[in-house]
Order: sequence, then structure tokens, then C-alpha cells
Amino acid sequence: MGKILVSIKDNEYNIYIEKNFESIARRMKEAGVFGVKMCVVTDSVVNGLYADELERELNDVATDVRRFVFPAGEASKTLSVVSDMYEFFLANRLDRRSAVVALGGGVCGDMAGFAAATYMRGVRFVQVPTTLLSQVDSGVGGKTGVDFAERKNIIGAFYQPKLTYINVSTLDSLPGAQLASGIGEAIKHGLIADAGYFSFIRDSARKIKEREKDALMKLVERSCEIKAKIVSKDEKESDLRAILNFGHTVGHAIEALKNFKLAHGHCVAIGCLAALRLSCEKGGVSDREVDAAADLFRFFDLPVSFSGIDERDVYEAATYDKKAVDGAINMILLEKIGKARVYEKTPFEDIIYAISAVKEPEK
Ligand SMILES: NC(=O)c1ccc[n+]([C@@H]2O[C@H](COP(=O)([O-])OP(=O)(O)OC[C@H]3O[C@@H](n4cnc5c(N)ncnc54)[C@H](O)[C@@H]3O)[C@@H](O)[C@H]2O)c1
Ligand SMILES: [Zn+2]
Repeated sequence: MGKILVSIKDNEYNIYIEKNFESIARRMKEAGVFGVKMCVVTDSVVNGLYADELERELNDVATDVRRFVFPAGEASKTLSVVSDMYEFFLANRLDRRSAVVALGGGVCGDMAGFAAATYMRGVRFVQVPTTLLSQVDSGVGGKTGVDFAERKNIIGAFYQPKLTYINVSTLDSLPGAQLASGIGEAIKHGLIADAGYFSFIRDSARKIKEREKDALMKLVERSCEIKAKIVSKDEKESDLRAILNFGHTVGHAIEALKNFKLAHGHCVAIGCLAALRLSCEKGGVSDREVDAAADLFRFFDLPVSFSGIDERDVYEAATYDKKAVDGAINMILLEKIGKARVYEKTPFEDIIYAISAVKEPEK
């Protein structure tokens, strides 16, 4: 069992990492979420896999459990589905004491979290993430929201859960590409904050790929710890939290230009390599270290280069990113493996250097 305390301003909550759902009722009681009506929010895929099992456990602590299911996929992450959720909450008489339990990946957590933050100005929220990406990344930090006007996550709120309960056994059913997507973010955590963790992922790569539970638990636990530590010190995205954006300047740009057809973690892997190559150029890491990171991404079937897009277009897309301030891009570079820094107002030539370093030569 793993347990991580996240303290963000006035909010404190625990993340539990387990191999089953058996202790969720007890954990909810400890967090003060019991004796109330609960609504499980899940997508159409996860619904058929884990919702019945979760609800059986919740029946021990809830007065009543309802379920809202939406079609799986990013296309559902809209205000319109949130609006359906509000209607469902009202029709099922959820009140201010009720709890919303998000069972699913990042789409589910972000959207249910936003609904929980806004319905009656905020009802209790519990995260039960079921993709590796949501377990190592989107489940920590309290960012909730939806896509709008073809912009990702442009409407949203910061809202912390009462607890997060991770059952790593849910990863058994996750498609390989989705598992890899989460590993991309986990490797990022090692690179920016903990060389020992990076080594752990390298040493345990085979076990992780084979979804050995103990290796997965350690992976999820260490990633949550790293992200929790960073967001605890800096909830709302200034300097410290910015280092989590490592690999995302170029990664997001490619993701957008490929019309979100590539998984997020895959684009992050390419972006990490771009940032690593620039870090190397600036004397932060050695060629050998960059190659080792590239090998690790490849081992998990993550891409480390892109093709079919012009460097300039990637640059332009990066300046449109919502994290760019007044069009200025602050790339995150490594001083060494395990330590990141913000490269304020990264010059155009350096960004182009990083992009070109991961572009496959034209045939
Ligand atoms: N809030 C944050 O800080 C944060 C951080 C990173 C990403 N995100 C958001 O997360 C989203 C991406 O998350 P995601 O990759 O989890 O996407 P997702 O929620 O769409 O899940 C991916 C797919 O996996 C399926 N799935 C989920 N769990 C499964 C399981 N255990 N077994 C089999 N299939 C399963 C889902 O039905 C879906 O089809 C994006 O919308 C992104 O913006 C948020
Ligand atoms: Zn990311």
C-alpha cells in the first residue's frame, strides 16, 4: 500500500495506491465522505470494466449510489456533457453534501472534477483514476476542466478532491499505447526532479512494461510524490510548477498540429527529447544521457521524433499555447538529470534548434 499526503493551501488529502478496491470504503470514511448520496461518473469503456465492482464497495459508505456514463474519448470533454451531468445530478437530487466519484482516465477526472467544483458551488469530489496517465499525472494537482472552441482545457477550475484512490490492477486492461502514454509523463518526472527515480524506471523497465504490480505501484507512488511536492508548493502555475511543463512546449505543439490523433504522452516523449537536446547544447546534460533517455522512451514504444510538419509551424503552434505568456515561450531545460530550470524567454533560434533536433530528415 502506498499513501501520499498532498497539502495545497487549506486543503489536505491523501492519495492511496492499492492493488484492489477493497479499502476504498474505509478510506472514504476516514476522509469524511460517508453517509451521503454519491454519483459515480465514468465513461462507456470503464463502465463495463470496473463500475459495478466500485459501486459494491461504495454501497458500504453511501446512502445511495447513482451512475452517470458518458461516451469514452476526448470528444466528450465538453460543456455539453457537463451540462448533462448537472441535469443528472439535479434529477437524482444530489445536494451540497453529496459526493461525485470520478472513475476513469484524465477525461473523466477533469470533467467530473469541474462538474463537482461548480454544481451548487462545489460538492465533494473523489478521484479514482484508471489510466496510467491519470494515475501519475492528471489525478494530482487539482486541475479540472473541459475543452472549448477547439482549445484544450481552456475552461476550468482548480479543485482538490477529498481523496484519490488508485487501484493499479485497473491497468491490466489498459491498451498498450495508453500505458506508454503514462510512462512518458513518469519518465518526465524522473528527468525534472529525481535522478534516482529515472534510474528506477530504467532498471525496472521490463517489469513495468509487463505490468508487474509492485513495479507499477512504485512507479505511480513516486510520480505522485514528485508531482504532489511540486504542486503543494505552487498550486497555481508559477515558476516551480512550470517545470512540470518539461517536454510540453514542443510536445503540445505537435499534439495540436497532428489534430490530437497522437496520444499525449507520445507527444510529450518527443517534446522531452527536444528539450533534452537543447539542454545538452546548453551544457546541462551529456549526449550519452540524452541517448539513454531516448532508448528508454523507445523501449516503451514511445516516439522520439516526428515528421510531416514544418519546424516553423511547430514554433508557431508553441507560441499559441496557453502557457506562452504574451507570445513568449519559456522552455524548461535540465541542468542535469533530476534538476530542471526555466529558460525565460527562450530565443527563437534555440526553440528551432530543439524542434529540428527531433525532426526526421525529409526523404
Ligand atoms: N488535470 C491535469 O492535470 C491533466 C494532466 C494531464 C492530462 N490531462 C487530461 O487527461 C486527458 C487524457 O487522459 P487519459 O489519457 O487518461 O484519457 P481518457 O480518459 O480518454 O482515457 C483513455 C482511454 O482509455 C480508456 N480507459 C480508461 N481506463 C481504462 C482501463 N483501466 N482499461 C481499459 N481502458 C481504459 C478510456 O475509456 C479511454 O478510451 C486529456 O483530456 C488531458 O487534457 C489532465
Ligand atoms: Zn502532460
